[in-house]
Amino acid sequence: MSVITSPGAPTPAVAAARERSAELEHLVARNPAGYRVLTGDRPTGALHLGHLLGTVANRVRLQNLGVEVFLIVADYQVITDRDDAGDLPATVREVLLDYLAAGVDPARSTVFTHSAVPALNQLLLPFLSLVSVAELERNPTVKAEAEASAAQGRRGTSGLLLTYPVHQAADILFCHGNLVPVGADQLPHLEITRTVARRFNQRYAAARPYFAEPDALVTPSLTVLGDDGVKMSKSRGNALELRASEDQTAAYFKRARTDADRTITYEPERRPEIANLLRIGAHFSGTSPEALADEVGPAGAGRLKALVTEAVVEGLRPLRARRRELASAGPRYLADVLARGNARANEIADRTLDDVRGLMGMRY
Ligand code: TRP
Repeated sequence: MSVITSPGAPTPAVAAARERSAELEHLVARNPAGYRVLTGDRPTGALHLGHLLGTVANRVRLQNLGVEVFLIVADYQVITDRDDAGDLPATVREVLLDYLAAGVDPARSTVFTHSAVPALNQLLLPFLSLVSVAELERNPTVKAEAEASAAQGRRGTSGLLLTYPVHQAADILFCHGNLVPVGADQLPHLEITRTVARRFNQRYAAARPYFAEPDALVTPSLTVLGDDGVKMSKSRGNALELRASEDQTAAYFKRARTDADRTITYEPERRPEIANLLRIGAHFSGTSPEALADEVGPAGAGRLKALVTEAVVEGLRPLRARRRELASAGPRYLADVLARGNARANEIADRTLDDVRGLMGMRY
């Protein structure tokens, strides 16, 4: 299965996942309590605009629909491909601030870290027995990440990188998550989770399946490009952090790449950098990229950047104000949010691991 898809040509697998996702949206709207979302981020830095528009806003939407949301701050995943995890306590705090500022409500959603939930990690052992090394080596995301780390001159694929789709299966299945919002490029991950659930049931719970196979929720989301015209990512250093100041935001868009055509038009294929600015501006000012292009037209990229800056500064104002408020609430507040999330995750993980050991005949 190919996972690299251009916007115009979804593979059959992606098209099927999109169709199923539209159906799921209806089911979720009708019965939000029937779903539990698990998703998360690796804490490699503060979150940026690409995170917000790509995933974080969607999680808040699901939470506000009444779906129970579990957010994993995947600290063990940081060391899949690097030797130095950086200042994790500081980074985890920044990610937590971004979540809460974006609208994640700790009274309704559970935020927790990998390393604080031993029983979740222990599920990795039985789960690893259910997949072959060849299946892991074929995983397109593992392959892509291994190639990226090789290109950056880092050491070869670590055992943790090779097995991280199975670790993600543990992340999802420990809490019986049945809905995983993913980008179309992440579908293969979920396939491994579904395979693990299915094989576990076949081997140890044939009479009464124990793990449900979770569904992917492929929601239309914005892919945001960075100031260099490549997909926004922390590791490329091309990102606009949510916590940036208004001046930093203005400077960011001022240096964003454009092209040599003066008149602004919305042509995503031919003019990706301009299209990206138009989409961001349109998103925050509640219009369409086409309408925004018409509005700017001959005034050119300078005018477009000024409008986008204004829209983003205005659009992020409440989030940034809330973030500052939370940051000054004192260190106990954030620590308590995480402690409560970790406690809840541990309670659930302990129960699941106990069930799993029972089913495997390992209760002594
Ligand atoms: N891999 C995700 C990221 O890079 C984070 C993550 C960890 C995750 N476990 C997960 C996402 C389980 C979805 C499901 O940000």
